[in-house]
Amino acid sequence: MSQLAAHRWAIRQARQTPEADCIARLEHSHAPAPDLRKAAQTEAIALIRHLREDASPGLMEIFLAEYGLSTDEGVALMCLAEALLRVPDTETIDALIEDKIAPSAWGKHLGHSASPLVNASTWALMLTGRILREKPGETGIAATLHGAVKRVGEPVIRAAVARAMKELGAQFVLGETIAKAIDRGKALERDGYTHSFDMLGEAALTEHDARAYFDSYSDAIAHLAKNATSNDPRENPGISIKMSALHPRYEESQRDRVMTELVERTRLLVRQARDAQIGLNIDAEEADRLDLSLDVIEAVLSDPALAGWDGFGVVVQAYGTRAAPVIDWLGELAHAHQRRIMVRLVKGAYWDTEIKRAQVEGLASFPVFTTKAATDISWICCAAKLLDSTDLIYPQFATHNAHSIATVIQLAHARGLSAESYEFQRLHGMGEALHARVKDQHGTRCRVYAPVGAHRDLLAYLVRRLLENGANSSFVNQVLDPDTPAATIAADPFDHPGKPNAAIRAPADLYQPERTNARGWDLKDLDDLAEIDAAMAPFLTHRWDLATSPGEDVPVINPADHDDLVGTVTFQSADSAISAIDTAKPWTAPATERAATLTRAADLY
Ligand code: FAD
Ligand code: 2OP
Repeated sequence: MSQLAAHRWAIRQARQTPEADCIARLEHSHAPAPDLRKAAQTEAIALIRHLREDASPGLMEIFLAEYGLSTDEGVALMCLAEALLRVPDTETIDALIEDKIAPSAWGKHLGHSASPLVNASTWALMLTGRILREKPGETGIAATLHGAVKRVGEPVIRAAVARAMKELGAQFVLGETIAKAIDRGKALERDGYTHSFDMLGEAALTEHDARAYFDSYSDAIAHLAKNATSNDPRENPGISIKMSALHPRYEESQRDRVMTELVERTRLLVRQARDAQIGLNIDAEEADRLDLSLDVIEAVLSDPALAGWDGFGVVVQAYGTRAAPVIDWLGELAHAHQRRIMVRLVKGAYWDTEIKRAQVEGLASFPVFTTKAATDISWICCAAKLLDSTDLIYPQFATHNAHSIATVIQLAHARGLSAESYEFQRLHGMGEALHARVKDQHGTRCRVYAPVGAHRDLLAYLVRRLLENGANSSFVNQVLDPDTPAATIAADPFDHPGKPNAAIRAPADLYQPERTNARGWDLKDLDDLAEIDAAMAPFLTHRWDLATSPGEDVPVINPADHDDLVGTVTFQSADSAISAIDTAKPWTAPATERAATLTRAADLY
């Protein structure tokens, strides 16, 4: 087995490895020494204090400090943000606003926030809620007046709430077009920042969409080429692409098409980026696409035309149990092709989706860790791995968490690495003050991931931001909360690695104690597909002859393939069917026995 194949095998093994074992392995091989961890924590606390005392925090941090997902009002706002802009008709918009805003206690948030904007929004929401709330039992003139105010108010309320949601979304978009975004990014670039532009749009459903997204990426690269002034992609603006945008069937069952059509499209974009000497980064998406994405990445990177260009970028999600072996594979790939690649380390933006999907599909295990501490440990150990491989890899550390950043600085320092050996990254609209401080203090580089596009294409991205930052374990959610001490926010995850999260039910236990959940197969997982193929194989050649009673043999044809004769049956005559029903007897076994038999049959299914 080649080295690359051995790493791919290890990646698949890690999908089945229990999360506690993955963490134990990571700690064993890459946990930083206690004094380094202490120094990182001290630095993180100083950064948090700076953010609280001296810096002007961003709107996202202020908003979440008041409206996280642990408040009913926060949840109502997130639901509105998610749904409002997709609703086509005014009646449903009004019903949605009424459903989400009327029942919540907005008044309790009044005057809490340091931001006049958040306070003004609270006022508006509170008044809106009062107007919308039904008054049970209200009759006569009061009811008429209330109804009138509500009717007159509806268009105004609709416009105001839609506007507020648009404002929230606008925080995350640098420009509606690539030209405008490049222009708006200039001010930060003068301060020494770079960008990775993200043309909004993902998960193409049709070939038409995929082609439009391809054109939009290609057009963006053409614009960026004009702004790339260095021969070093690390100093130029770059682009981030999502492979789900480039192909409507980016999935294991369509491997042949993916390996021809998607590889070809990605290769064209990559060559265009190479010609422009800019970085092109492949964003990481859902865990069930990981294995296939590595095949596409390998096929694209092996293109001899890319020799001498160090701008190919890959994202690794530390929340995945496969993160560490993926980094080993990437190092081996860079070595095999003799080119340095960029690796952006993130924690991962699809956590809720991954948990839910594994439960719904009854998978054997989760593809992601189930505690925040486990993800933080994985991120730090993966950071150490990347910093050990800077001859092959240019590490890009993407986080808004002061503790994660401080740990990277300490890890790099301990290895004697210069500030140019790696870069930090943040998302547009987030973590400005934190990253500005780090850049000033340490002279490190910082790249801003900058979404570009129309508001209607922002939705999936916006929901990921709201979910990951709304969770009360998130750094951004806690950083401005005066009741949470800086030392708590900067807690060292290695101090409390913990066990898998007991509050998250394993897919098999979803309906316990009543029953075990049905086992599902992951039709995007190579191992599961192989298991299904192996189980199916004997039946594909078997000829079923169910000619149990006298009569004419009737052929049974596979409806999907009319050349495939599955077998033969004979049909019962009407008389024999009636006599079978007449001789049928009720199942008189005790209820417990019948229940046990049915449960056993269900388990076998
Ligand atoms: P923190 O608050 O420290 O961490 C929050 C994260 O911890 C969550 O997002 C989740 O990953 C994890 N987490 C939370 N609760 C749990 C739990 N119970 N169990 C396990 N893990 C948990 N994400 C992608 O998926 N693909 C990309 O290509 C990508 N590109 C990015 C590019 C940039 C420049 C940046 C800044 C981010 C990118 N992200 C990407 C998003 C990134 O994954 C999130 O922003 C990130 O997870 C938030 O982490 P944090 O360190 O800023 O915050
Ligand atoms: C996302 O789209 C930033 O790639 C990350 O959520």
